[in-house]
Amino acid sequence: MAAMPRETVPIDLARRYEHIRPTPRLPDFAAWVDGVDLTRPLPDPVRAELRRALADFEVLFFRPQVLTPAQHVALAEVFGPISGGSFFDRHESVPEMEMIVTDRERPPSIDQWHTDLTWQARPPMGTVIQITETPPHGGNTCWLSTSKAFEALSPGMQAYLEGLTATHTWEVSGFRDALGRRGDEALINAIRHYKPVSHPVVLVHPDSGRRCLYVNDSFTKHIDGIDRRESQAMLAFLSSWIRRPEFTVQHEWQPHGLAVWDNRSTQHYANADYWPHRRVNRRVTFDVPGTERPHANVNSTVLRGSPLRD
Ligand SMILES: [Fe+2]
Repeated sequence: MAAMPRETVPIDLARRYEHIRPTPRLPDFAAWVDGVDLTRPLPDPVRAELRRALADFEVLFFRPQVLTPAQHVALAEVFGPISGGSFFDRHESVPEMEMIVTDRERPPSIDQWHTDLTWQARPPMGTVIQITETPPHGGNTCWLSTSKAFEALSPGMQAYLEGLTATHTWEVSGFRDALGRRGDEALINAIRHYKPVSHPVVLVHPDSGRRCLYVNDSFTKHIDGIDRRESQAMLAFLSSWIRRPEFTVQHEWQPHGLAVWDNRSTQHYANADYWPHRRVNRRVTFDVPGTERPHANVNSTVLRGSPLRD
């Protein structure tokens, strides 16, 4: 039988926001943001409230606005310095922008829950995406709140998890197969450049103070220092738990709609139900302010500048 629901006290919107209008879609999670024209330079008080809103609501949605790539990059820079990004094609004149174009020849392949790049020592802080072309139906994106998922666990389970770390590596993800299809050299380069890393199972969010479950299906290999079977069972339980609908929002896109997510307190899943129709996702990723990047992006370190297609 389920336990009694917990009482929630929502964030006081009127007290915390003067310059933007956030409207959460779930309690304290996944907010629409109105009152911001992203085609104009953003004043400092607006920028400060956008940063506050990302910590408060973890995912922000903006109604459709036609942005230039430079305006898109400028929005990402509100939150942090532009990150090296991942292995997707780049915009022809704006290398900070990854172009995730899917069509008959390039099927969608991100239909798995994950937090971006947790196989790196310092994963990016978050991402701004704009879907400039939408398929006729489907192509939604889902996000879940890892802070909600942690908060709803029993105190005993929370205490158990708080002392643990877990190993993350791209080698347990689809990235390994895709690299393997590129040949041994790409795979060996990746093994050389990107060793497995360890992260706390419960990450304390530096801005919100919330505790976040920080394991994901795509990149977490095992929980450190416990029997392999205990690790497998615990990760399977957390994978199931974290997907409860109470922690999850599913977003239907309008052309030129935007979303910003915090990569520490969320996971996401790109529905792949629209193939072979075309969908264009413009993506700019940002780091925690002050992050030092030991490597350039994956394209230059592993793929010698030739992006991965599959
Ligand atoms: Fe992702």
